[in-house]
Amino acid sequence: MHKGIYAEYSSSVVRRMMKNSYPQGWFLACLNKMIVGGIAFSSYDSYYNASIFEVSFLAVNRQERSRGIGKALFNSALKSIREKLKEKGIKLVMLFVQTDGENKEAIGFYRSVFKRVGKVTETRIKDAWPKTWSGDKDVVFMFVRLKS
Ligand SMILES: CC(C)(COP(=O)(O)OP(=O)(O)OC[C@H]1O[C@@H](n2cnc3c(N)ncnc32)[C@H](O)[C@@H]1OP(=O)(O)O)[C@@H](O)C(=O)NCCC(=O)NCCS
Repeated sequence: MHKGIYAEYSSSVVRRMMKNSYPQGWFLACLNKMIVGGIAFSSYDSYYNASIFEVSFLAVNRQERSRGIGKALFNSALKSIREKLKEKGIKLVMLFVQTDGENKEAIGFYRSVFKRVGKVTETRIKDAWPKTWSGDKDVVFMFVRLKS
């Protein structure tokens, strides 16, 4: 993975994250043989025949943003994971994501893509979130109850 997909992480850090995390599916966007974006979904919880997934990683190279790459990654990942679960008789019922409360790009992005696939709920939980991760920043949790 080339540098720049996530400005603050080097490619070796991203590689380690991919190796150590628990995602069910990684999807990468390539342009001219370069990786320009990635998304990962992880299983968060599952019941007898229903599952909840988290969007655990999403980034698009800064130079390629606002060109629909993030949306294409999200839609492909959602479609593929839904199909894989369906083969096992499991329905994907909800997605959630947590992001920095000041990350306007991500919040705008999730508002846009989530509302197209279901009913969205958004909540800010600064006081409940461990300070180690959030510092003094707020944290936003966004949920989408998926339409079938
Ligand atoms: C969030 C991110 C992945 C979006 O990727 P992108 O390829 O630029 O997004 P797209 O071009 O596919 O945009 C899809 C939708 O999101 C909306 N959106 C994208 N950037 C936005 C912004 N800065 N403000 C408001 N809405 C935004 C677009 O308006 C579009 O909606 P529309 O289809 O209704 O017009 C990208 O900004 C990024 O990599 N950010 C840094 C990493 C990050 O914060 N990841 C999320 C961590 S949880």
